[in-house]
Amino acid sequence: MNFASMVLRLSRAALLPAGLLLACAATQARAQTPVPEDARTLEFGKDIFKTKARCQFCHKWDGTGDQGYGGNALSLRKTELTREQLTEVVKCGRLATEMPYHDKFAYTDKRCFGVTREQAGAEAPPDANQFLQASEINAVVAYVFARIVGKGAPNYDECVDFWGKDTQQCEPFRK
Ligand code: HEC
Repeated sequence: MNFASMVLRLSRAALLPAGLLLACAATQARAQTPVPEDARTLEFGKDIFKTKARCQFCHKWDGTGDQGYGGNALSLRKTELTREQLTEVVKCGRLATEMPYHDKFAYTDKRCFGVTREQAGAEAPPDANQFLQASEINAVVAYVFARIVGKGAPNYDECVDFWGKDTQQCEPFRK
């Protein structure tokens, strides 16, 4: 074997694993970085959670839930609802609780729990602060699942992602 072919072999041997690693890293990066469309949906969903529907008023910014204004708003971090069930809660609210409904037509026909407003009577949940379009409901549900459901204790980075850096809000989360 001459020197040149040895070098060639050696470098191939070295390149192969490096190439594999690169390929793996690329696949991982692809799996972790949301495609731009998703990132936009999440930003849109966050804005609804924060401002338009004000979910945070009752559930807190981090979804850990709260007792007080709006009754006992459950923890969305610990919820065991499926995506479908959670979507229903957002659309229909919850009967006999302070969880508001966000689908304007929720109780005009029987799309929610098979009852009209009249039939729900005193059990009808309150109207939302602002009603949401189907696309807005999808976005806020996507946001809740991506950033809140199943996450452990909230941390500083999550807080800054929600409130930005120009507030004292996140100081308690600084380690
Ligand atoms: C006015 C206060 C208030 C607002 C605003 C509010 N919620 Fe709620 N939410 C509640 C209360 C109270 C409950 C608990 C109902 C119960 O006792 O079952 C609840 C329950 C829920 C549940 C059920 C959790 C479970 O595990 O059963 C989900 C999901 C939920 N809210 C999501 C949202 C989202 C998303 C928004 C914004 C689009 C929102 N909520 C806005 C008060 C509120």
